[in-house]
Amino acid sequence: MIKNIESIQRNDQQGVNRTDWEKITPIITKDMEELSLFAYEKVITSAAKAKAENRNFYIALSGGSTPKRLYEMLGENKEKIDFSHWHIFLADERCVPETSKDNTYAWINDVLLSKIPLNQSQIHKVNTSLESPEVMAINYQKEIEIVFKLDSNGIPEFDIIIAGVGQNDGHTASLFPGKPALNIHDRSVAFSKPGINPPHVDRVTLTYPVFNQAKEVIFLASGENKRSVFESQTGPAFMVNNPNRIYIIAY
Ligand code: 6PG
Repeated sequence: MIKNIESIQRNDQQGVNRTDWEKITPIITKDMEELSLFAYEKVITSAAKAKAENRNFYIALSGGSTPKRLYEMLGENKEKIDFSHWHIFLADERCVPETSKDNTYAWINDVLLSKIPLNQSQIHKVNTSLESPEVMAINYQKEIEIVFKLDSNGIPEFDIIIAGVGQNDGHTASLFPGKPALNIHDRSVAFSKPGINPPHVDRVTLTYPVFNQAKEVIFLASGENKRSVFESQTGPAFMVNNPNRIYIIAY
C-alpha cells in the first residue's frame, strides 16, 4: 500500500443534494506509476474480499489512456492473482467493429484480457456487430441481468468500476454533458451520441444508477488537461452520487 497518500473518502452521505456537497478533493499522485499502483492495490483488495466471501468479483473497466498502466500491472502480476472468480465488464463501448482501433474491448483485450487466465464466460463485452446502438445497449443490459441474476431493468452492484474523467467536458464512460443518457435512472445501460471529444461515434454506456450502486468507483485522471475539469467539477464524472468514489490524479 502506498503509505504517503491518505485515501480521501468523501464525507457526504448518499442522498445528500449533490450541489451541497463539498468540493471533491482528489488523491494527488506524483506520476502515472504511482496512480496506477494505488488503483492496482484498490482492485486487488476488492477482489480478495470477494474471494474471501466466496463470491464472484465484478469489475467494469473503462477505455481511454489513463488506465493502461493499471491494466498492464494486473497482467504483469497475474501469477499473484486468482482470476477464477472475476467477471470483467466494460463501463462503455464505442459502436464500432472490434477490428477498429477505436473499439474499447479490443484495446483492453490487447493490453490485459489476452494476457490473463480467463474463460470467455468471464468477459462481458458490448456486441458491436448488432444492427444499432439501441440494440447493442439492450443486448448488453440483458447480459448484465443474466450474470448478476437480476430482474428486468435491475441495477447491478459492481465491486469496482474503473472510470476516467474526460478532458474539456468532464465526462465519464460515455455519459456526456447534455445527452439523454444522463437522465436514465431506471436501467443499467444506455446508448448515446458522441460527446465533444473524439472518436465521434455512437456509444453504449453504463448509467448513473450503476455508478451510484457500485461498492467502489475509482476515477483515474492524468495530465494538465484535466486540471480545469477538476476546478469546475461540473461534468458527469462529478455527478456520480456514490460516497465510495475516489478520484486519483497524476498531473
Ligand atoms: C472512452 C472512455 C472515456 C475515457 C475518458 C478519459 O471510451 O474513451 O470511456 O470515458 O475514460 O475520455 O480518457 P483518458 O483516460 O484518455 O483521459
